[in-house]
Amino acid sequence: MKKDRIKIAIVGSGYVGLVTGVCLAEIGHEIICVDNNKEKIKKLKKGISPIFEPGLEELLRKNMKKGKITFLDSVKKATPVCDVIFIAVNTPPRPDGSADLQYVEKVCIEIANSMNRYKVIVEKSTVPVQTGRKVKQTIELYNRRKIPFDVVSNPEFLREGTALNDFLKPDRIVVGVESEKAKKIMKRIYAPIKAPIIFTNIETAELIKHASNSFLATKISYINAVANIAEKVGADIKDISKAMGMDKRIGPYFLNAGVGFGGSCFPKDVLAFIHMAKEVGIDFNFLKEVYRINEEQRKRVVEKLKEILWNIEDKKIAVWGLSFKPNTDDLRNAPSIVIVEELLNSHAKVFVYDPVAIKNFKKIFGRNKGLFYAKNVYETIKHAEAVLILTEWDEFKKVDMKKVKNAMKIPVLIDGRNMFDKEKMEKFGFIYRGIGR
Ligand code: UDX
Ligand code: UDX
Repeated sequence: MKKDRIKIAIVGSGYVGLVTGVCLAEIGHEIICVDNNKEKIKKLKKGISPIFEPGLEELLRKNMKKGKITFLDSVKKATPVCDVIFIAVNTPPRPDGSADLQYVEKVCIEIANSMNRYKVIVEKSTVPVQTGRKVKQTIELYNRRKIPFDVVSNPEFLREGTALNDFLKPDRIVVGVESEKAKKIMKRIYAPIKAPIIFTNIETAELIKHASNSFLATKISYINAVANIAEKVGADIKDISKAMGMDKRIGPYFLNAGVGFGGSCFPKDVLAFIHMAKEVGIDFNFLKEVYRINEEQRKRVVEKLKEILWNIEDKKIAVWGLSFKPNTDDLRNAPSIVIVEELLNSHAKVFVYDPVAIKNFKKIFGRNKGLFYAKNVYETIKHAEAVLILTEWDEFKKVDMKKVKNAMKIPVLIDGRNMFDKEKMEKFGFIYRGIGR
């Protein structure tokens, strides 16, 4: 049977857009990835992924070879030759927490100006509720030839590091639609994926995204708050999380205590939800607390360090892991940024290492007195007075911790992700501090 192939343009080839484009090609569609960053398009045309995401580059090349993915640097050129257009440009936070939607608006105007026949326009970026309505209004305004179109909300639930799997094997697909025609097209697009599709109105789909991400962030802040109590009373948060997670009503996921949530989504989405609620007259104090707990949590590891080492001025501190979570080179809102800043402000000598994010970290901190970029963990530990773990990379599990302990001046180990066994580390001779244990 011939596959039902639809011509789709994905505007914005960042984390979300590129994964969406590559996966939609993989399930049989014909994709044009669009980005106004010409350098990015140049790289992509050579089969080079501008981001680090496991499996992405291979799948990109495979589908390019089959002719299922091509690239363009303008919406104007892509719109006329596609039936469906996904908008996946960035929606950065403004200083007040609201989402900056200028790029979404710009793309809408470009689409409206270049439409030649019926189009389905899908909002994929994370946007505040009622953006769908604004998208429709804007396209109507600039669509002077009154060409028919539909707007759809299809929020993403892609975790960096497992984005391909999250796209191809999702728990559910959420689609907010207003017309039967658009609903049918969205059904055809996702037909090859075996997952329930929840069809709702546009506002509901938008709110599902807000509610889901803020709930996950809440789970993390909740467990971190409990971890701080556990520490004071001699309980172990790892056992608490495990036992809590076995209750099906709670579930085992997103209950790992640590240095707090980072990334391009959770911090931004929580603030955006608070802001959005305020706009409709609701004070979402509850979520403000979720955010505050997370901010505090980042400082806890430095406090722990100071409790043991007293003054950290001139002390040599090794920092393992910089990305906001493993298997990504992404540093957006990474706890490591605030923590390393704090260490540098206290005049410590900081030796940082990350398996893939070190390059991006260099871009942020550059040449900085007191900051040293290491090529491996062993380069960070010689005569160090403490090791701080901020990201739970698998690589760290394979490190010879005995060797680490012996090379250090003082064997302080602050495990900000609870990746090591406390008893084992203490047996090796480490002064071990985890989170909530
Ligand atoms: C972004 C948002 O941050 C997120 O909230 C949303 O869910 C999806 O889009 P991400 O894909 O990680 O996430 O953003 P980013 O990596 O910054 O990619 C956006 C891309 O859009 C960039 O490559 C940028 O060059 C491109 N872009 C931006 C355009 O092509 N046109 C524009 O007008 C603006
Ligand atoms: C998130 C959403 O999960 C995803 O659905 C999409 O909407 C984009 O945003 P992502 O930011 O890639 O994905 O990573 P995620 O795995 O959700 O982790 C976010 C942060 O929470 C990381 O900093 C991670 O270290 C932290 N986290 C996660 C914890 O501290 N504890 C946990 O138990 C789980």
